[in-house]
Amino acid sequence: MKSNSKLVLFALGALMMLTLIACEPQVITETVEVTREVEVVREVEVASESKVLNVYSSRHYGDLEAPFQAFTDATGIEVRVSAGSPRDLLNRLRADISRGDRSVADVFLAIDAGVLSLATEEGLLQPHGSDAITSSVAPEFQDPDGNWAGLSIRTRTLVYNPANTTEDEIAAVTSYSDLADATWSGRLCMRPASHIYTVSLFSSLINHLGEAEAAAVTEGIASNVVRYINSDTGQIKAVAAGECDLAIVNHYYMGRLANGDADSQAVFDSVQLKWMNQDESGVFFNVNGAGVVKNAENFDNAVAFIEFLAATENQCGDLTCFPGSNYEFPTNPSAGVNETIAGFGEFTYDLDYGLASYGSLQDASVSMLEAAGYGFAEN
Ligand SMILES: [Fe+2]
Repeated sequence: MKSNSKLVLFALGALMMLTLIACEPQVITETVEVTREVEVVREVEVASESKVLNVYSSRHYGDLEAPFQAFTDATGIEVRVSAGSPRDLLNRLRADISRGDRSVADVFLAIDAGVLSLATEEGLLQPHGSDAITSSVAPEFQDPDGNWAGLSIRTRTLVYNPANTTEDEIAAVTSYSDLADATWSGRLCMRPASHIYTVSLFSSLINHLGEAEAAAVTEGIASNVVRYINSDTGQIKAVAAGECDLAIVNHYYMGRLANGDADSQAVFDSVQLKWMNQDESGVFFNVNGAGVVKNAENFDNAVAFIEFLAATENQCGDLTCFPGSNYEFPTNPSAGVNETIAGFGEFTYDLDYGLASYGSLQDASVSMLEAAGYGFAEN
């Protein structure tokens, strides 16, 4: 209201000045000053227009993310998070956008590049157009067309119990396909196929091996599974307790256990992590990435948010930074890595399977898992 009143006053002033100009051409310099003042008022109005950012996020591990609060502290922009699974949020985004020309969410943050690439293909996101984002994030961890950028990296790899396995047995497990070996019959825990972590991992088998070989490997793995557990922490605990001898999990759950209470640390100490596929294409990974939603009401805030999270100082390994707060790896190559996960040793990522391709094989992956008799529920 205050700004509007000022605007009216300036407009009146400008009008009076124009009237004077019409009569007295010699006061031209004063006209320039009035024009400048009106512009200032307009700028203030735009800046105070919106201090809100709506985020759909599938990374929700408890309280509001500390880095989101840091963004609010730095910009005054309030971050409102709606949490859900990546595919549920994708469905909400589809519904929002089909309903009207303004989307409910400004930022779509998903823990799966497949979901991000599907959202891109369906036109639910828009290019952020920010050089700051493009230059902060390594090229392999962002959409080449700028529709989304990875902000943290999670690998999916092997955890085993050294007390229940031999060194030779573990040395022989180098690729995910090796889990299909009969050695592991009744000794393997896996996450059910109802979870996107499983769907994406098995889509990488199709990409590397082709449909026929991937299907045979999936059948072999399914026949070795003794338990399906729909929690990676639950899987690691089962390995530690000897319910199974090995499992495939996201690495950051090991980071959390290592930094947890005494019981968690005891679990961590009972198991070992091994990087998979190091003799082949590299360990399977996924990103936690963000894109600006099509027709975002707060476009500038959305871009500022992604720029903030991608910046070197907010990509650090500390608990205050986006990757560090969940023991994930940074996508910004200039950032430092969390100490605990750096201790897991050197490894290479599977860059042969481009993140932008993850979405195209998800349906095939689900069909393959179903046909192989792989479990969709816990047992
Ligand atoms: Fe997770």
